[in-house]
Amino acid sequence: MHFASKLPDVGTTIFSVMSRRALEEGALNIGQGFPDYSIDARLSEYVQEAISAGYNQYAPMEGVVALREQISGKLRGSYGIDVDPERELTITCGGTEAIFDAIQAVVSAGDDAIMFDPAYDVYEPAIRLAGGRAVRIALPPPDFSYDWDQVKLALSDRTRLIIINNPHNPSCTVASHADLDALAALVRDRPITILADEVYEHVVFDGRRHASVLAHAELRERSFAVFSFGKTLHATGWRTGYCVAPAELTRELRKVHQFNTFSIVAPLQHAIAKYVAHCPESWLGLSAFFERKRDLLSERLHGCAIRPLKAAGTYFQLVDYSAVSAALDVDFADRLIREGKLATIPLSPFYARPPQMRLLRICLAKRDETLCAAAERIKDFANSLEQRQ
Ligand SMILES: Cc1ncc(COP(=O)(O)O)c(C=O)c1O
Repeated sequence: MHFASKLPDVGTTIFSVMSRRALEEGALNIGQGFPDYSIDARLSEYVQEAISAGYNQYAPMEGVVALREQISGKLRGSYGIDVDPERELTITCGGTEAIFDAIQAVVSAGDDAIMFDPAYDVYEPAIRLAGGRAVRIALPPPDFSYDWDQVKLALSDRTRLIIINNPHNPSCTVASHADLDALAALVRDRPITILADEVYEHVVFDGRRHASVLAHAELRERSFAVFSFGKTLHATGWRTGYCVAPAELTRELRKVHQFNTFSIVAPLQHAIAKYVAHCPESWLGLSAFFERKRDLLSERLHGCAIRPLKAAGTYFQLVDYSAVSAALDVDFADRLIREGKLATIPLSPFYARPPQMRLLRICLAKRDETLCAAAERIKDFANSLEQRQ
């Protein structure tokens, strides 16, 4: 039977491609964003407890009450805001489901959704499945800053949604309060919703404070803010995240969530509720934890011709290899896997129209030994290329 694909150009993500190539070539994989160390032992205990206590049947559609209440308290601590756990907070299958649900809830056929490249790969397919059109605005390397005048030019009567990701993956930059003010001024008096992907909220470096849309009075009223316990608890496989939005938006999001995943793994929700109640140091210390790893990698790459750019946030780090090769990033990344036995992530697949890109992304959520071994491989590869120049 012949049928027409709804997403004919969508293939396997760059993360799966590079992880497969790493296996084929026996390369060390510091590309895809997942920790190679254990989760906190208390989390494992709390899951066992929750299963033994009988929390093994459907959780409430909106999420376990205790977890929503704990998150509401956590948000008060982080951003000084009151979030109604009953009407403004929904537990989802990772940040990914929250993003998908929010887009389906507000984008209709013929609508535009503005997003910024390099963009995390789930946004555009979700927009297109909703019948909308993704309007992609490029953030140019190496500083990836927003040009709000360009965004203004992209606005039209069809614009229904603007997606921002802060801290930003894969550029490792963070948006400022001034950026949020500029965004708020643009959407004022327009029927535009904001989707703020803030899954790296707790990973900002060098004394910065995360500028959440939830702490911005004007944006808070029109935003879905998306978070992920996968990132915060070093447990990407737990697939547990949440979305905070005003009651009116939450009502619409839940209509999608209800018929998408319906509800999220019950014992994990109970375990996370207990963990959030008892272990706040886990997220309060996250920036310092990754900043130390960022600095360790940078020290190990000191003097190397493949140069780390200073990451402002997220658990990633960019390196610039333009001093050793003029090859574009996808080719260079493949050569690094084959010859240097190291898998990283090139940035151009995150753009609709990629600029000439000579940056690679490395994941910092790795044991120190892994990061040191990666630095050695990068240095050896850079030296071998320099010798051939
Ligand atoms: C920017 C960004 N948004 C969303 C997600 C998805 O989060 P989750 O794993 O909780 O679905 C990720 C995961 O890598 C991400 O990097």
